[in-house]
Amino acid sequence: MSRYRCASSIRSYDGVVDQSRAPLLEALDAYRRNNRYGFTPPGHRQGAGVDDRTRRVIGADAFAADLLASGGLDDRRMRGGYLSDAENLMAQAVDAEMAFFSTCGSSLSVKAAMLAVAGGGNGELLITRDAHKSIVAGLIFSGLRPRWVRPRWDENLHLTHPPSPAEVRKAWETDPQASGLLIVSPTPYGTCADIRAIADVCHEFGKPLIVDEAWGAHLPFHDELPTWAMDAGADVCVVSVHKMGAGFEQGSVCHVQGDLVDRSRLSQCADLLMTTSPNVLIYSALDGWRRHMVESGRELLGAALDLARSLRRSIDELPGFTVMHDELLHEEASHDLDELQVLIDVSDLGVSGYQCADWLREHRQIDVGLSDHRRVLATISQADDEKTAHRLLDALTDLGSAAASFDPPGLIVQPSPLELQLENAMLPRDAFFGDTESVPLDEAPGRVAAEQITPYPPGIPVVVPGEVLNEAVVEYLRTGKNAGMNLPDAADDALDTIKVVR
Ligand SMILES: Cc1ncc(COP(=O)(O)O)c(C=O)c1O
Repeated sequence: MSRYRCASSIRSYDGVVDQSRAPLLEALDAYRRNNRYGFTPPGHRQGAGVDDRTRRVIGADAFAADLLASGGLDDRRMRGGYLSDAENLMAQAVDAEMAFFSTCGSSLSVKAAMLAVAGGGNGELLITRDAHKSIVAGLIFSGLRPRWVRPRWDENLHLTHPPSPAEVRKAWETDPQASGLLIVSPTPYGTCADIRAIADVCHEFGKPLIVDEAWGAHLPFHDELPTWAMDAGADVCVVSVHKMGAGFEQGSVCHVQGDLVDRSRLSQCADLLMTTSPNVLIYSALDGWRRHMVESGRELLGAALDLARSLRRSIDELPGFTVMHDELLHEEASHDLDELQVLIDVSDLGVSGYQCADWLREHRQIDVGLSDHRRVLATISQADDEKTAHRLLDALTDLGSAAASFDPPGLIVQPSPLELQLENAMLPRDAFFGDTESVPLDEAPGRVAAEQITPYPPGIPVVVPGEVLNEAVVEYLRTGKNAGMNLPDAADDALDTIKVVR
């Protein structure tokens, strides 16, 4: 008997877990074939209650598959076992010990992991300061005290790399009382930490490693991709299947192994945050993607890697464009790189990444994954092919010609790595929920921030509630905003003011 507690229905005759099954998809199919009808939500009754204009845009099939989860397919605490079977198949497919699905993205899964490892108020967690804003939101909700671990900052490229194992060791020596370490790998730029070495350091201190692997759902399915967190010895990792896999938006999986994290606690923490009406479409797409990856992942991702490599070479040959690779990978930078993330430096064109992203959207109807003061990022997936790659290449070629007519990019005054490390004066929760006031930007230095301010993408907060603002960071935000930086979570859209602790 394997360690996966799958129902006998998804084992083949010799007791082996049958990865060709997709229990949630099968249950969804059976629900419709059996002509079941629910006098329960969702009130649209498989689409019968929506108007044609809505149906035309969204599609009748989407409504037909949107069923009451608790009555039909979600049996987390109820009948059938479809969901737990699908989760066990997922765990087995990627060689984790346990997996559970979430319908609220890695934003939920990572908060559940933080709560399960460090508890509520008074808990402490080591966290790399290049954390995503959903992690900072977790700090605000939970009242946990972050003990920040320094990422590696490339002063020339103005880019952060995951922390080194040595930096992690230093953090544990300084704060051995913390309950665990949370790192982000891959970063939104596709760069990866040395997870194995970092996990070893954590385990030496008897503490678990949580990896926010939102950008790494595909990693287990091809050996030329960076090592995925469970293989590298992490205790918990969360992935967003909609990012690098083929799930619906919000489909996320939390994987667990080892005995440093209490699984039922983790599941209960997720339950605290989860909706009671999970979307069956999201669950079922996770189930179908897992089967697809088990059966064809190597081939599909191999083709995507070939495409990305050839696209990287072609873009690199365009005048003014530099595809980043070697400069991201060296002793003092990242440990590994996901080549499907094609990060393109456009600074030789004399324009900013923001301007390029705007031009591509407006003139070629192409959206890129990320843009900053000097780069744009194109993410290649298993769905891309020669045609989509050519579309991007043609658009970049045209962009190269058009760039000469752009206005000079707004100057962004970049802080030094030291200036970016703001002093921590209060718990994020106390600063966020305490007595606050809004002050004009030039009065903000020296005050304690009461909001998070995040350039998005990539979604790494420059300011976390509880940190003392300084001149350099305020100037960075002011000049960045003027140059096209998107700051969606600032209380004042125009960023004329910042919320601070009164
Ligand atoms: C590093 C990182 N972690 C977590 C998240 C949140 O993931 P989701 O959008 O699935 O909630 C993101 C989203 O971009 C991310 O980049």
